[in-house]
Amino acid sequence: MSEEMAHETAVGIHDLSFATTEFVLPHTVLAAHNGTDPAKYHHGIGQRSMSVPAADEDIVTMAAAAAAPVVRRHGTDGIRTVVLATESSIDQAKSAGVYVHSLLGLGSATRVVELKQACYAATAGLQFALGLVRSDPAQRVLVIASDVSKYELDSPGEATQGAAAVAMLIAADPALLTIEEPSGLFTADVMDFWRPNYREAALVDGQESIGAYLLAVQGSWKDYTEQGGRDLDEFAAFCYHQPFTKMAYKAHRQLLNYCGHGVDEDRVTRDLGLTTAYNNVIGNSYTASVYLALAALLDQADDLGGRPVGFLSYGSGSVAEFFAGTVVPGYRDHLRTAAHRAAVDRRTPVDHARYRALHQYSFPADGGDHITPAETTGPFRLAALRGHKRIYETS
Ligand code: CAA
Repeated sequence: MSEEMAHETAVGIHDLSFATTEFVLPHTVLAAHNGTDPAKYHHGIGQRSMSVPAADEDIVTMAAAAAAPVVRRHGTDGIRTVVLATESSIDQAKSAGVYVHSLLGLGSATRVVELKQACYAATAGLQFALGLVRSDPAQRVLVIASDVSKYELDSPGEATQGAAAVAMLIAADPALLTIEEPSGLFTADVMDFWRPNYREAALVDGQESIGAYLLAVQGSWKDYTEQGGRDLDEFAAFCYHQPFTKMAYKAHRQLLNYCGHGVDEDRVTRDLGLTTAYNNVIGNSYTASVYLALAALLDQADDLGGRPVGFLSYGSGSVAEFFAGTVVPGYRDHLRTAAHRAAVDRRTPVDHARYRALHQYSFPADGGDHITPAETTGPFRLAALRGHKRIYETS
């Protein structure tokens, strides 16, 4: 195929599947423990429950659980690249994606890499994948976003915790969403949220982080329009990174104001209302969050075939990207709505004491050999630490 023809090929998201954790903590339980009005969580930040990983779950087990149905449906042919995006990495050298590659039984002729830039990295992975498929439309790329969001107990961030993985197969002539050029880009060196290597829980300046996100919305949209992007009114919906779902509302109001539209709350609800359903009950899944917004939109909307959707991917620190995709007619035949709902509904509620114990459980760091408590009923588990190596198994 000539270079010109390759560039004309539609590329985008061919399949999308997500997985989350074994346990869930309802915000009513957290509110009762904290003496907080539950309305602050339900309406103030827009969260109803948070996914809580079992002791034998981590970013690898969630990533493999998200990607396995994609591989089952499409096979492994043409998958020559796996990109795993995370900011809750389990190793400073080895990519979590290599464990996932092994659990999924992918072929050795594969490149695997882990990407990091806070919650933004999956979008970088998506863009790398699109580039690879544009240059060789026979290739398919598995992009996986997987994260566990953990803040200090009793801190303001605690109510926004969560965990999930989204796996996307990026391919030519995609069944779900064609991703378009241009992208609007924005980077600013800010300390709004970060996690030094010696800490398990993130550090965050809550109000600073909200301000940094809003500046990034403006900055990436400005670049998007300067690059010749679509008009705001063309979009059927907007998928934002959702550290808590009310953040998407703040971001969209900022965008409407910035574009001189004024804020019509009916329009805000119309533009976003369907994108929050999974993040609202899962909590912050960092890199996965903006793609969970897409899953919620596609799983719930009336037919969006042929309609453009806007994406705002934000990662603290900070990097943001605004880009657009067009929903492919007939996409509804390829959705995983029942499986997605099951992933949310299968979680077992925990009480506050159990949640606290799970939060305080940390993977042993004494260099010894340890068996991990068997807790998850999911398809993959972290079975042990042996000789400084993480041992995963298929259930
Ligand atoms: N009923 C209804 N609403 C109530 C309420 C009640 N009883 N009590 C309070 N509220 C409202 C408040 O008015 C406020 O709404 P507005 O923001 O619209 O004014 C909202 O609930 C939250 O109240 P506070 O600001 O007082 O809450 P807080 O001090 O506990 O902190 C937070 C909220 C800053 C988001 C905190 O949870 C936090 O630090 N979260 C982690 C950081 C974060 O998510 N930042 C987002 C941008 S950074 C990013 O996107 C990257 C990432 O993933 C981390």
